[in-house]
Amino acid sequence: MNSNRKTVIAGNWKMNKTPKEAEALLREVLPAADGAACEVVVCVPYVDLPVACNVAGGSNVKVGAQNVHFKPSGAYTGEISAAMLQELGVSYVVVGHSERREYFAETDATVALKIAATLDAGITPILCVGESLAEREQGIMAERIRTQIKIDLAGVAAADMGKVVIAYEPIWAIGTGKTATSEQAQEVCKLIRDTLCELFGADAAQGVSILYGGSMNAKNAAELLAQPDIDGGLIGGASLKAEDFGKIIAAAN
Ligand code: PGA
Repeated sequence: MNSNRKTVIAGNWKMNKTPKEAEALLREVLPAADGAACEVVVCVPYVDLPVACNVAGGSNVKVGAQNVHFKPSGAYTGEISAAMLQELGVSYVVVGHSERREYFAETDATVALKIAATLDAGITPILCVGESLAEREQGIMAERIRTQIKIDLAGVAAADMGKVVIAYEPIWAIGTGKTATSEQAQEVCKLIRDTLCELFGADAAQGVSILYGGSMNAKNAAELLAQPDIDGGLIGGASLKAEDFGKIIAAAN
């Protein structure tokens, strides 16, 4: 963590919690976030957004969505636009999560369009990048990460990079209980920052919050967050337990 950058602790609830359950969990999370020095975000299912925005209103917790469509409106059955999210009071949106890339045919090209639509609406994208186990074992992790960063952020101006959050999520560590070591996570977060420096210049690169995601939990958070290029976490499983999520927020403080 670097004190010049915003530390972001974001929960990714994935396809969990009905609106009533979401309200109950969020009410448990609020006290843990009260007075936190870091930015606390909960990225909830679409149907939970209204209740989450209401309950979190006036608190220290920001609400995020988990996906967005890149078109402003139109005949795109089942999709949700950035303007719809903005009107609800959504501040963040996860873009390009590996589960969307794997199960819903998300490509770097559509991710790039979604980043642009999100920034246009004044919402902060949390851009997810990460390599598979096969890519790591084949020694092409760095190429994979650099390619994702280059294509996904191709339409972003250097001046807007301060409004983008990036999450490094090795696919082999997501939901597996197998966390990247703090050295592995730091190595890739630094690689991402070096790539941002090439593309947008040193000042812009130094200002971007880069999160680690992949089985971050109450036990390993402090060590991961102590790395110089890791500015927070994107947390799946452990964000569904208010006590564990609270411990991760405390570790970030
Ligand atoms: P996990 O999920 O913490 O359950 O591994 C992280 C994510 O997919 O964002």
